[in-house]
Order: sequence, then C-alpha cells, then structure tokens
Amino acid sequence: MEKIRIRGGPDLPLRGSVRVSGSKNAVLPAIAAALLTENKIRLENVPLVRDVYSMMTLLGELGAEGDLRENVLEMQVPRIHREEASYDLVKVMRASILVLGPLVARFGKAIVALPGGCAIGSRPIDLHMTGLHKLGASITLEHGYIKAEAPRLQGADIHFEKNTVGGTENIVMAASLARGETILRNCAREPEVQNLCELLVKMGAKIDGIGEETMRVTGVDSLGGAVHEIIPDRIEAGTYMVAGALTRGDIILDRVRPDHLVTTIEKLRYCGARIETPETGKIRVVGSAEIHPEDITTSPYPGFPTDMQAQFMVLLTQASGTSIITETIFDRRFQHVNELLRLGASIEVSGDKAIVRGPSRLSGAEVIASDLRASAGLLLAGLIAGGETVVNEVEHIDRGYEAIEAKLRQLGARIERIKE
Ligand code: EPZ
Repeated sequence: MEKIRIRGGPDLPLRGSVRVSGSKNAVLPAIAAALLTENKIRLENVPLVRDVYSMMTLLGELGAEGDLRENVLEMQVPRIHREEASYDLVKVMRASILVLGPLVARFGKAIVALPGGCAIGSRPIDLHMTGLHKLGASITLEHGYIKAEAPRLQGADIHFEKNTVGGTENIVMAASLARGETILRNCAREPEVQNLCELLVKMGAKIDGIGEETMRVTGVDSLGGAVHEIIPDRIEAGTYMVAGALTRGDIILDRVRPDHLVTTIEKLRYCGARIETPETGKIRVVGSAEIHPEDITTSPYPGFPTDMQAQFMVLLTQASGTSIITETIFDRRFQHVNELLRLGASIEVSGDKAIVRGPSRLSGAEVIASDLRASAGLLLAGLIAGGETVVNEVEHIDRGYEAIEAKLRQLGARIERIKE
C-alpha cells in the first residue's frame, strides 16, 4: 500500500505552472472503441494513469494488440480470442463495461461481469442493457455476468430514462455498426462523450447531433482506423484550480480547455478567486485572501460536475460562512466527509446535502482515501492543514491523476510518496 505525505499549512501558497494531462474519462471509451474495427487506432495525449493500463490489460485479454509509448497509444483488434471480460478486471474498473457495446456490435456476442457498486454509489447498468436490448441484442444475466448476443444489431429509437455518460457511450458505439438508423434521446453531453463521437466519426461512423441531447446514428457495415487526440482532463484541471484558490496561490494551468470548465470557473469566481485565460489553452488562477461561501448542486454537463464535488467541499471548509452542497448524481458520494471531519472541518450531511461551515482551521492527520476524487480532495486538504497529513491507499488517486505529487511539488507543495 502506498501513501502520500504532505506537510501543509494555512500560509503556503502554490505558485508556478502545471501541465494538465489527457482525460481519463475520454481515453477509456476511446480504447474500447478499438474493438469496433480490425484496423489500428492511434490515440494521442493519453494520460499515464492506472485505469489506462487496466483497460489495455482488458483488451489484451480479449485479443487486442496495444503499444503505449510516452503519451501515444496504438491499439489494434484484428480478431478476438475471447469475448468475456472477467470479474477480476471489471471489479477493478467499472469502465470495463464499455467493452459490452463494441463486442456485441462487431462480434455478435459479449460476456461482461456485472460491475458492483463502489464507494460513491450503487451504479447500476440497467440503461446500458435496455439500450442494447432495443438494438436487438438478447440479454441474459447469470452468475454475476451479463451476456449479450445479436447476429446483427438493428437501429432503434432509444430514450435514456436517466442521463448516463457510460450508457450513452456504450450505445452510440454499438449503434455505429447496427443496421439502419438509431435515434438516441436524452444523451449525456459531457466533453468526453463528444470526444468519443468525434473518434467514431473519424473511424467512418455516421453520427449527427454530437454534443446535443438527441443524436442520430446511421449504422455502417464496418469502421476503419483513425488518429485521434484525447481532450485535456477537465477534472484534473479543476482539481489544480481549486488547489490554487485554496492556498491563495497564483498558478497557471497549461493545455486546458476553458470551454469545458465553464461552471468550475464560474463557481471559483463566486468564491473570490481571479480566473484569467491569458492565452489559448491556458488558465491562470489567483486565490483571494477571503473565500466566499457558495451553494453547489451537481448535475449532468454542462452543469457543475459531480467529479468536482469533493474538491470544492474542501475549498468551502475555508469559506467565511455556510455553504450547502447538493449531490444529485450519486447516492453515496460524501465518503470524504468523515475524513475531512478528522482534519477539523465542520460539515453536516443530511440526505443528498452537505452543510459546510467555515472557515475551519484544519490540522494534519492520517486519513484514508475511498474513491478517486475523494482522495484528491484529501490531498488538497493536506495542503492547508497545519502539520503532516498522510493519505493512505493512494492507488485510488493513481487511477485518474498522472504524477499528482510531482505536479503539486512543482507548484511548491511539500509532498512525497511513501512506499511501504
Ligand atoms: C462516468 O461514470 C464517469 N466515469 C464518472 O467519473 C462520472 O462521475 C460520471 O460519469 C458522471 O459524470 C467515466 O467516464 C469512466 P453515469 P458513469 O452512467 O458512466 C445512474 C471519476 O471520478 N445510472 O453517467 O458510470 C448512476 O447510478 C468517475 O472519474 C443508472 O441508474 O456514470 C448515476 O447515479 C467517477 N443506470 C447516474 O446514473 C445506468 O445504467 C450517472 O451515472 C447507468 C447509470
């Protein structure tokens, strides 16, 4: 088990510039899309994070040939020698479910272990299954596995009852090779979904309405290879932006897309930070001495991202007043509250709301990470907590943040990884 130790304090502003990596949540479906063609796809600006290696392992087990050099991943699936994604891989990474649609669409069969719940909620996949069923796949559930089969998927009119990122991604990939037209209604509009659709179009898919609530897909018989750049990670970027505001620092983020960060920028400005876009692809964050309280409600894009909720909660523990955070996406995404209380925060959870009273003087302690974004939040708290904070089980962080301690150290944080 690895740990990260931070020696923090209330007067240690971060300063300097940091480069943001490619998006974990964009690259994972892009890797799964390689299953849709026998030709090679080349992905650029790939983040070196654990989930990428897990997805490569999963596709490798199915029969893919992958090669990752620096931040370029070449993936090719001329054929598969199995169509089963086993539980030991799926339990490590829920995004494994994204192989379901492509496998059925190209090979007519897929067997994928049902992903369990996780630290942030129950996380069912019913919308993935109903979507595939509407495309003509026969779906059976047995022994903890979902089996989907279809000689050839047929286009359909599909309405997602709930906004689902993974569900939209799975079904748009499957529909790309279905016979006829598919209409997808109430689609997720996250930039990561759009980035996937742009890749599919480069591979020869016919998709109209990318980024809109309704997409139309005209199925084709086969898809080709492509070269594709993964968009910058807006959640990694948002995490460092909060770090700049939290420590009253002055930092510049490089290789970001401000247009993917509109609500994060807006909320940070309400909290008092000065946010500038000095030139293309850069964002500057200058923290303010006083942090204003601000109510936050998470919602699907373009609303405030649930993946930024834990990080903002840490910022709001320093606000001069009370803020209310409402988490509408996941049913258990306040796991970080108990650990923040141990650092001295004043937070009360009631149902889907967390009432954060500030400012609280945080003091360092040993804490444990529960999920990717909660652990990032605990690292942020360690930056301003007086004394030493040790975050345990940092494997969670490594799933979605490339070299986080090196990047924070580059900004002046006193942070190191402890290998036990
Ligand atoms: C994606 O998860 C992201 N992961 C999550 O990021 C992110 O928090 C989430 O979207 C919401 O933005 C990846 O892209 C790999 P959903 P996903 O399907 O696709 C319910 C991170 O930290 N739902 O949009 O699993 C579900 O329970 C991770 O990087 C159903 O009810 O999320 C949730 O309440 C965490 N039935 C809501 O919809 C379904 O079939 C949104 O889930 C599918 C989802």
